[in-house]
Amino acid sequence: MKTIIKKITKNQNNTDIIKQAGDILKSGGLVAFPTETVYGLGADALNEQAAKKIYAAKGRPSDNPLIVHITNMEALDKITEYIPQEARIVADAYWPGPLTMIFRKSEIVPMGTTGGLNTVAVRMPSHEIAREVIDAGGGYIAAPSANTSGRPSPTAAEHVQEDLSGRIDMIVDGGAVEIGVESTILDMTVTPPMILRPGAITREMLNEVIGEVAVDKTLMNPNSKKAPKAPGMKYRHYAPKADLTVIEGELDRVADEINRLAQEKLSEGYKVGIIGTEETVGKYPFGDVKCIGTREDEATIASHLFGILREFDNDGVEYIYSESFDSEGIGSAIMNRLLKAAGQHIIRLGNK
Ligand code: TXA
Ligand code: MG
Repeated sequence: MKTIIKKITKNQNNTDIIKQAGDILKSGGLVAFPTETVYGLGADALNEQAAKKIYAAKGRPSDNPLIVHITNMEALDKITEYIPQEARIVADAYWPGPLTMIFRKSEIVPMGTTGGLNTVAVRMPSHEIAREVIDAGGGYIAAPSANTSGRPSPTAAEHVQEDLSGRIDMIVDGGAVEIGVESTILDMTVTPPMILRPGAITREMLNEVIGEVAVDKTLMNPNSKKAPKAPGMKYRHYAPKADLTVIEGELDRVADEINRLAQEKLSEGYKVGIIGTEETVGKYPFGDVKCIGTREDEATIASHLFGILREFDNDGVEYIYSESFDSEGIGSAIMNRLLKAAGQHIIRLGNK
């Protein structure tokens, strides 16, 4: 299959491209498109055969359910059995945006979309191109992140091309995404609602509008034997090819330890990558050093994380050492993804 790639530029009439994407979706094909979080791989969510193609293209386990993307609240009514009042409050505050909510599904959503579950995950994205593609494709678009299963999620059209070229019908290239980590997932079928995946809509932001929310305990606990409640969170995910270690502690000591570890591997002849920040990159004299963003604004770190992991893959790096980040606000999403990429391998330096 030849993948059609179309670039969308601002201040230009893109109606033809959106129509082409919509026609492909309506006829059961696969179209990757940008959202504010990461690129999604879209298919008609109400067409079981179309949704199934997603699993084949990504190499995704079939028990891992898809998120249905919509653009308005009427669509939410159609695909859910029941919408709790709290969900309406959260939707009012944070939709459209980087938040997915889980509901009991209605009859029209096929099991092929929900991985056999009676619940459905729903997101209303804010990205203009995403919204146009969803509407053109019929209004109900299943879209996981547009990466091969197990690789870091794509934050630019080039990443989608790397993973899925020749396996999907079309890529709508809308440039780099803004946020860079996938949406927060909030399960509205339990009381209190529970965060199953941290993202840019933080626990604190949810507390502000609906009070108490629970957090799936398996998310930050490397030793948990329990399976996470979002099936996709159990897979080794976001993983670079290199062996990644996170080092946590006071920043100067972290830099010393990273330099020590890096030198050790370099002297054994390995290629070594280092993830530092604007505040610290000057402290690393050896290795392939990449600046992930500034500690003053952790959103910059979130937006570069997956891209940097892919760059290290392309550079053939074998060992990566990364600094650690705050675990509040967007930091909890960053640390969740980083630790998953590291296979939970973290070195905690004690205080001196
Ligand atoms: O930001 C995002 O959410 C992106 C963009 C494209 O919208 N999409 C995304 O989809 O990250 P995906 O498939 O990569 O991740 C969906 C996650 C998986 O961990 C899956 O197990 C979970 O959502 N999920 C989906 N439906 C669920 C359900 N009914 N119950 C529990 N977890 C569910
Ligand atoms: Mg994914």
